[in-house]
Amino acid sequence: MSDINLIKEKIDVVDLIGEYVQLKPAGINHKGLCPFHHEKSPSFMVNRERQSWHCFGCAKGGDIFTFVQEIEGMEFREALKYLADKAGVQLTNTFQNQAETSQKNRLKEINKDASHFFYNFLLKMPASKDARDYLQNRGLIQETIDNWQIGFVPEQWDLLTQYLLKKGHSIDDLVVSGLTIKRDNANAQTYQGFYDRFRGRIMFPIWDVHDGVVGFTGRVLVETEKSGGKYVNTPQTPLFDKSRVVFALNKAKKEIKVKDLVVLVEGQMDVIACHQAGMNNVVATSGTALTSEQIKLLKRYSNNISMAFDADNAGEKAARRGIELAIAQGINVKIIQIPEGAGKDPDECIKKNKEVWFEAVKNANEVMDWYFERAFFGKDIHNPKDKQDISFELLNIIQHIPYPVVLDHWLQELSHRLLTDIDVLRKELDRIRKEEKKSPEARIVNQKEEKKVVNLPPTRLDSLVERFLSLYLRFSADVQGISNLFSIDLSLSTGKYSALYEKLKTMYNSNNNDITHVREIFSTENQENIVDVLLMQGEKDFFGFTGVEGKKDLQDLSKIVREEWLKQERNRIQNEMIKAEGDGNNDKINELMKYFQTLK
Ligand code: UTP
Ligand code: MN
Repeated sequence: MSDINLIKEKIDVVDLIGEYVQLKPAGINHKGLCPFHHEKSPSFMVNRERQSWHCFGCAKGGDIFTFVQEIEGMEFREALKYLADKAGVQLTNTFQNQAETSQKNRLKEINKDASHFFYNFLLKMPASKDARDYLQNRGLIQETIDNWQIGFVPEQWDLLTQYLLKKGHSIDDLVVSGLTIKRDNANAQTYQGFYDRFRGRIMFPIWDVHDGVVGFTGRVLVETEKSGGKYVNTPQTPLFDKSRVVFALNKAKKEIKVKDLVVLVEGQMDVIACHQAGMNNVVATSGTALTSEQIKLLKRYSNNISMAFDADNAGEKAARRGIELAIAQGINVKIIQIPEGAGKDPDECIKKNKEVWFEAVKNANEVMDWYFERAFFGKDIHNPKDKQDISFELLNIIQHIPYPVVLDHWLQELSHRLLTDIDVLRKELDRIRKEEKKSPEARIVNQKEEKKVVNLPPTRLDSLVERFLSLYLRFSADVQGISNLFSIDLSLSTGKYSALYEKLKTMYNSNNNDITHVREIFSTENQENIVDVLLMQGEKDFFGFTGVEGKKDLQDLSKIVREEWLKQERNRIQNEMIKAEGDGNNDKINELMKYFQTLK
């Protein structure tokens, strides 16, 4: 039996996907909300017998391998290694080679070896005495050090690099992993000019959700002028993207689900102190404000986040951006405030009196109350300028609330407390929203978000339709009167070009080739006009084509488009039939059968 089949046999598709999606039995399938697109009623199906999954909403589907690839952003070879390990299957021959050719898999091995090195060095080497004393002084017990695989690397140039080379890793991979830094004049034969990024530091591994080490953060043991930052992190690598990693989520995810609450703190030491004190749903970002990628990840486990940040630091401003993103994504955000004098961060607070910290988490404030308190603090509501400032600050937050009823609640609250008519506030809110849309920063954010939504890779049909349309737009004057030039039905499709295709089809079939008119229909305020984009593409791809050549190509392409469409359509109908079968809906099955016959 092939490795692939062996893995599929050992890993149950419902269990695997169940780690990400709440699934309920539905006929022969399991059913849930699709993790790949936003939806309110479930159209995501998992079929245990066929070991497959499919979403009727966004048309994604496949087996356990494609699922892991999609949801974790892994490439096939990574998914292969990951699932093989999970299944306890030893890969053989070709598959083993495949897995080894993956740079990401090799980087994972390097990080694993490095973390063992740091940990063993801390435990066993006399040179680590100061580091061990330091950790003990900070209150970490041995069990915690073991659990978190905390380590140490002494102040030497290339101790780790040499060790990893001896273990058989290549110098190129070590540089890519971020553990080794390469000087401009480095010599890859003698390894001269390569040195360790982390030196003289206490080392904390950073894991992904599946316990794989993806990077490190290192804290100086003795802060001197030369020691650089207090903390140094792994730079951006193919494995480590600090905007996507949540520190300790692998250790906290279970408890986060149980408590239905994420406690988010600022520092690694804060996280570790919390876990040691018995609070296990605690995570941190790596010295950055919360990003939308991290929020998405956390949302897999809970919709509630309570945040703590050092009251005195500039981090609060950065934190606000993260809070707004979280609010906009429908998260219930609360703010944890450590009482005056109880410590500057959770770690200190726990050391002084852990009950105070537990109480502070329990008494976390609803984020809007916290914002109100801040905004009104020290202001006079009978001073018009102060009123304007307060309303501006708060409306800037309120605008992000995605639930109309909740939004209205806070508008009313503001209206009462500010003694300002609610309609005035509504107008001001509209104005702020419009401004926000115009600001360059917002535009970048919006574009990014939009891109993510259409992140589905274009299907072969999309690409063919794109080529067909750009060819047609270029030669529309030469190709009138061919029967069945627009031969497929995209009216129900959500593809990027379906609306344009249908529009041009209708026009073509009534002998109308006035493209200027179409341009106008598809012009939008913020985005490029897709007609223009296609025209430009035609310019590039079909430069120098004569009308006769264009016509011939278009006719050929029309047939290819139709064949591809038939293939997709048959697939879609078959899936629909499986669904109808599962629901025991015989009428639907007959109807689908009839339609299926016409797909020739
Ligand atoms: P803090 O300066 O508050 O440190 O930075 P801390 O967590 O209290 O650290 P200890 O208690 O002195 O050991 C908070 C977090 O910001 C990031 C780290 O993730 C740190 O835990 N940070 C801080 C950096 O990435 N680089 C730095 O130079 C400092
Ligand atoms: Mn601290």
